[in-house]
Amino acid sequence: MTTAPRPATPERPAGPDPDGREPILQVRNLVKHFPLTQGILFRKQVGAVQAVDGVSFDLYPGETLGIVGESGCGKSTVARLLMNLETPTSGEILYKGEDITRLSGRALKAVRRNIQMVFQDPYTSLNPRMTVGDIIGEPFEIHPEVAPKGDRRRRVQELLDVVGLNPEYINRYPHQFSGGQRQRIGIARGLALRPEVIVADEPVSALDVSVQAQVVNLMERLQDEFGLAYMFIAHDLSIVRHIADRVGVMYLGRIVELGADAAIYEHPTHPYTQALLSAVPVPNPEAREHRERIILAGDVPSPADPPSGCRFRTRCWKAQELCAEKDPPLTVPPVFRGTAGPTEHPSACHFAEEKQVVPPE
Ligand SMILES: Nc1ncnc2c1ncn2[C@@H]1O[C@H](COP(=O)(O)OP(=O)(O)O)[C@@H](O)[C@H]1O
Ligand code: SF4
Ligand SMILES: [Mg+2]
Repeated sequence: MTTAPRPATPERPAGPDPDGREPILQVRNLVKHFPLTQGILFRKQVGAVQAVDGVSFDLYPGETLGIVGESGCGKSTVARLLMNLETPTSGEILYKGEDITRLSGRALKAVRRNIQMVFQDPYTSLNPRMTVGDIIGEPFEIHPEVAPKGDRRRRVQELLDVVGLNPEYINRYPHQFSGGQRQRIGIARGLALRPEVIVADEPVSALDVSVQAQVVNLMERLQDEFGLAYMFIAHDLSIVRHIADRVGVMYLGRIVELGADAAIYEHPTHPYTQALLSAVPVPNPEAREHRERIILAGDVPSPADPPSGCRFRTRCWKAQELCAEKDPPLTVPPVFRGTAGPTEHPSACHFAEEKQVVPPE
């Protein structure tokens, strides 16, 4: 982990952060709408699922950006857009200043080598008919320049060792491993091409709680060893707490609050973040007794028909008329501007207020 850089805001256009680092990825107004069609013979578009609707953030070299939000809020779609597995409806994804959504052929292949993904479910993401050696070595087939054929076996064994697996397991099949070990295999494959960025889509959500910490610890160690930047996706704020330098909270296709981890956990200003935090387990029994649990009313609205104005307003206990009329932008709320305190971070709420939900660690 590195020191947290200042979060990018729509008002602070991308550029070097105060430590002089340029972001490695800059995501600008990213939108992905999936068309909804009707009719069998003449398919007519009748609407769109607004899976991702105007997401902007920066990722700095060597940092971990946690992305958190309930199921269906668009996290995996953001990940797939970054990996070029989906084409955006609009918006930009700049890798070292170059818009990768416009690249193709050799230029795209060169960029893709540097951005790798670790998937959620280690049971379905590994081909059961391939040996571990073939799974981890597969990226070398696409990028033979990284490891010449005669050297691949040794490279794969090295990768097994790096992720804490016995290099002699190279000829085994995925079913011969536990869930945690399979995720280590997925991580080894992600590392094979020595990427700069790893997009990890809920990498520990499918694992037993006892194994989750081991995999998170491994990812932290690998980050230091290889200088990796992570986008670490989770549906639960407690998992990203220890690994993230900064956290973005998503709701219905948007980021609603973005800041350094201490700012988000100890000084949240958006009601949705506060509600999510109120469900995070608190180890200290005394603190647990005094905490307030915020129960949200109703369900998440359909992304095909999101509420007007603030998308969170149908479940927000603070909603007023203005919330239905005006969409709050993701910027530092005027009340906190210039305070130089931990509440001075972007929060998309007209009535942003600090509320301590989780006792400081
Ligand atoms: N290929 C697709 N076609 C239509 N809708 C999709 C597609 N992929 C995702 N969606 C919808 O987009 C929304 C966001 O999905 P997703 O990005 O998977 O959310 P998350 O990863 O946060 O659970 C959901 O409503 C989902 O049903
Ligand atoms: S803008 Fe209004 S509805 Fe939205 S989070 Fe803030 S108070 Fe709630
Ligand atoms: Mg997902």
